[in-house]
Amino acid sequence: MSRGFVRWALVVAVAFWVGGCAPRTGGRATPAASPQAAGLPDLGGRTLRVATDATYPPFEMLDKDKNIVGYDVDLIQEICRRVNCKPEIRSVAWEGILPGVQQGDYDVAISGITITEEREKQVDFTEPYITVGQVVLVRADETRIQGAQDLTDKTVAVQLGTTNDELASKLHKDGRIREVKRYRTFDLAVAALLNRDVDAVIIDSVAGLGFMAQHPGKLKTVGEKLTEEQLGIVVREGNAELRDAFNAALRALKEDGTLDRLYRKWFEEWKPTQ
Ligand code: ARG
Repeated sequence: MSRGFVRWALVVAVAFWVGGCAPRTGGRATPAASPQAAGLPDLGGRTLRVATDATYPPFEMLDKDKNIVGYDVDLIQEICRRVNCKPEIRSVAWEGILPGVQQGDYDVAISGITITEEREKQVDFTEPYITVGQVVLVRADETRIQGAQDLTDKTVAVQLGTTNDELASKLHKDGRIREVKRYRTFDLAVAALLNRDVDAVIIDSVAGLGFMAQHPGKLKTVGEKLTEEQLGIVVREGNAELRDAFNAALRALKEDGTLDRLYRKWFEEWKPTQ
């Protein structure tokens, strides 16, 4: 083999190697310092299968090009930048998310998920990353409903299997809601509200704002917040390595202002583009 060929082959090999390592999606900000340098755990660059139900603005939704975007998406990406992992995010049905993590189909779930005692029995949660409260969402022209006290003779929609479903079901049992209709996603529940199939939707406050932004002038929230809930990221029960790495990253993101920046981006500045 001639020297020239060897040198050429080397150049080509290096070019491929560099090309192969370049991020596939451009526009990434400067990489964070290495996990060790920042005193954070290092997950060794591993790919994480992340499940989310991308029908929940502005936590997770599809943009007009069908990319999964939102607060949770940015958050898991920022976490992975700190502790060296690659999130591979897929949108799946809400009811399959926790069972999927339990069975090991997904490593992580981030989907506006409230930390509850019941769920703690099935999976592990990180520390909370945001606090929300449930609210009553109605059509903008609604005059009969000023808050949860006015639902006794009304039909309320929720997403099946959420903490919102739990609250609405309890209020129904106590005679404070006439009927509860359960939908497989919140955007179907909101569509039912806009179609006048139901009178109200019970939903987490910030997601309520997300749907208001998607349907400008058509919706409003009424009354007081009905709960206080903390959202966390889910890993398989006993996966302390992931949970601890995420918690360390969350603390770093709180301290350096990234969490505040994401809050402003998605809950204050974001406007849907459709
Ligand atoms: N926080 C509520 C719950 O955990 C609703 C979450 C719904 N999330 C979603 N992506 N649809 O039950």
